[in-house]
Amino acid sequence: MDPKIRTVAVLGAGIMGNGISQTIAAAGPYLVYMVDVAQAILEQGLESIKKSLGRFTKKGEMTPEESEAIISRITPTTDFEVVQESDLVVEAIPEDLALKIETFQKLNDLCPTHAIMGTNTSSLPIASIAAATERPDMVIGIHFMNPVPVMKGVEVIKGLMTSPETVQATVNFVESIGKIPCLALDYAGFINSRLLSIYINEAVLAVMDGNPPEEVDKGMIHTANMPMGPLKLLDLIGLDVHLKIMDILRNEYGDRFLAAPLTRQMFRAGHLGRKTGRGFYQY
Ligand code: CAA
Repeated sequence: MDPKIRTVAVLGAGIMGNGISQTIAAAGPYLVYMVDVAQAILEQGLESIKKSLGRFTKKGEMTPEESEAIISRITPTTDFEVVQESDLVVEAIPEDLALKIETFQKLNDLCPTHAIMGTNTSSLPIASIAAATERPDMVIGIHFMNPVPVMKGVEVIKGLMTSPETVQATVNFVESIGKIPCLALDYAGFINSRLLSIYINEAVLAVMDGNPPEEVDKGMIHTANMPMGPLKLLDLIGLDVHLKIMDILRNEYGDRFLAAPLTRQMFRAGHLGRKTGRGFYQY
């Protein structure tokens, strides 16, 4: 681990933020502030962490005492100013560039000078976020995958102005929490979202052609060894999240990222996947 990183502030207690908080706290020496604007989201986030830890204890991979110790290292709070005590920030707020820029301006004003300011964005430019601060060399992409406690890879994205020292410290940190850092450049969608979103979009187009979702998924699991079919994965990611990524990538790369009309229809109907109980499957 990097001796300079002890306290981490995770901004956002949603599905990504709570998973990131859990994973960092589970690594041992770190203290985690899980920050959100709403108390109710913090409570939901904590519930989700307990549920996930319950899966590890049930399997005997973790004792109830270890699980308690992990929870005790996480401080849920609505007080943004805790970033003043943080050596690393991992921002996991909604995927909205204006909101991220505003947040990084606040981080710029409050964080200690040695703090690394990371963003978990899946598709927004690191350079635009970094340029909003007076220390763009300390801003970096740290893109975790859903479900965070079980997914090994974390994209580490170097913006144009990110310093090599920040990249190295981030790589060290990611390794210290038991994950595999995967380096990506700051082009829209980096590697993961760029490739995965095309694959998922093509699966929705196949459904529009008349293929049943179950068959599309079964096909990709058994003929391509995917751990989960693309439509079930879309339900896990959330149709709203996927659609936002598609729109950002279309803006950058053109119509090869044009979202399947069915995705937009389902989004409008509120069928966002697991989180709303209905997507390509019922939950
Ligand atoms: N917390 C703890 N453990 C969890 C968990 C969680 N939240 N979710 C799943 N698990 C564990 C289960 O307990 C189970 O453990 P065992 O195998 O030891 O019993 C294991 O993971 C597998 O779970 P399931 O049996 O319930 O289901 P599964 O076999 O289908 O696996 C999966 C689930 C790990 C999610 C697997 O299907 C998978 O890897 N899918 C692909 C996920 C993926 O591609 N994620 C990236 C999405 S893109 C992204 O996140 C980026 C973005 O910005 C949009």
